[in-house]
Amino acid sequence: MILVVSHAGDGHLPAVTAKLDEAGADWVLLDTDLYPEPIRIDDGPAGCCLRMDGREIRLRDVRAVWWRRPRPPVITGRSPEVTRWAQRQAFAALDSALGAVSALWVNHPRHNRQAEDKPANLRRAAALGLDVPDWRVTNDPVVAAAFAAGHETIIVKPVEAAYVTPTRSLWTRRLGDSGPLDHIGPEPYLLQQFIDKTEDVRVTVVGTTVFAVAIDSQATTETSVDMRAGDLAALDHQPIELPPRVASALLLLCADLQLQFAAIDLVRDQDGALWFLEVNPNGQWAWLEQLADVPIAGALTRLLMT
Ligand SMILES: Nc1ncnc2c1ncn2[C@@H]1O[C@H](COP(=O)(O)OP(=O)(O)OP(=O)(O)O)[C@@H](O)[C@H]1O
Ligand SMILES: [Mg+2]
Repeated sequence: MILVVSHAGDGHLPAVTAKLDEAGADWVLLDTDLYPEPIRIDDGPAGCCLRMDGREIRLRDVRAVWWRRPRPPVITGRSPEVTRWAQRQAFAALDSALGAVSALWVNHPRHNRQAEDKPANLRRAAALGLDVPDWRVTNDPVVAAAFAAGHETIIVKPVEAAYVTPTRSLWTRRLGDSGPLDHIGPEPYLLQQFIDKTEDVRVTVVGTTVFAVAIDSQATTETSVDMRAGDLAALDHQPIELPPRVASALLLLCADLQLQFAAIDLVRDQDGALWFLEVNPNGQWAWLEQLADVPIAGALTRLLMT
């Protein structure tokens, strides 16, 4: 059985679940919006059973897990503190039960967490021979100023997530002459050498298959530094082949991080060279399939069915 751990509203599910149905696969959705109620968990020495939708799912029957951005357990009617505690309690029980499942994980949340370490990934990518823009993580204005002085242009971006609140994001920005870090706060930021790019390249790795899409981010001013800051869907998207050296380094990086799936951001400079920016272990890909016709859902379906 294939277990999809997600929530029913995730826009990435239908393309894959329709293909699983077509192929006659036995799959079930663990919808975290329905956990811990009405879903019931029963874990013990003999293994774990989930009761949901009138079905009993024995986790030892699970052969593959697609961990597609599940949401936190839903607890209602308690104080905010107790809600957080109860959510952790519910998550711990599920996490432990799922953790005992020896299946093909796409991807295991432990590996996702590990792969969210941006500085570590920049070091890993460089060690694999990929071109990586020079970078610093710092909250020291003196260090930031010295770093800026050493490069024509630098950018600032978050060390962790760009989404500050549901309505506010910290997009990648170029730093001008106004003194880096003077106006942003005591928390450290990731500073990076700015790559004067001709396009963004989004790579999706599924198992050992690599899909690359070139995105014409330079077509509009708003998308020219951070392509997410403007209308990304309006930009031209073209499937491309990566140079074999880059594709194999990215596969090695995913193997290193124990990721079956990854969304990787690259940029192409004025000389045609590709630079590694980051790896997103649970990144978005449905828009690439829609705009560039890259068969990612099919590849994921086949991977889950192996
Ligand atoms: N060093 C850089 N030079 C030029 N452009 C960059 C650089 N770093 C990031 N960008 C641009 O900013 C955008 C986001 O890049 P990236 O994914 O690295 O940022 P992030 O904030 O770390 O992302 P996430 O929110 O996914 O963690 C992309 O359009 C990318 O081309
Ligand atoms: Mg990114």
